[in-house]
Amino acid sequence: MKATFLSAAVLVATAAPALAQHKPEQVIHYRQSAMTLIGWNFGALSAMVKGKTTWDAKEFAMRADRIASLAPQVLEGFAPGSDKGAKTEAKAGIWTSMDDFKSKDSNLVDQTKALADVAHTGDEAAMKAQFKKTAQACKDCHDKYKED
Ligand code: HEC
Repeated sequence: MKATFLSAAVLVATAAPALAQHKPEQVIHYRQSAMTLIGWNFGALSAMVKGKTTWDAKEFAMRADRIASLAPQVLEGFAPGSDKGAKTEAKAGIWTSMDDFKSKDSNLVDQTKALADVAHTGDEAAMKAQFKKTAQACKDCHDKYKED
């Protein structure tokens, strides 16, 4: 009986918004980690697109898949109340313009999914073109909502 009650409580906690179970500093660390992982993989794609490393369509697709699976995990790292609590480059405007921020986040999700889709065709020119559109999605948000 007690065990049943406990697992029900765990389920409820899992479904609750990030801040109900985490301190602001944990939420900040989560979003910075997600961004670091995205940046790690995106940087490798950038190097290939710029010809700094050898073009490798299979590696490109593998990294594009990783980014496409990370992108939908970003938004919960911006839970209300996580504007401060640890060192952060996130601007306070995020939480006062959440609808606009969400539209930029949803563009990231769309563009990274398109990147992963096109990567599996192996069409180099299309992959490079979609890489640029994805980079623009990063920039659109960083320009407005991230400190330099
Ligand atoms: C919807 C807005 C948004 C989009 C889109 C976005 N970012 Fe970010 N990113 C942020 C914010 C805000 C921060 C600062 C987070 C903080 O310091 O708390 C950040 C931080 C980062 C960091 C620094 C992480 C750290 O703490 O060291 C990297 C790297 C990064 N983003 C890469 C990317 C890349 C690459 C893309 C596109 C593929 C991207 N971001 C798209 C909002 C965004």
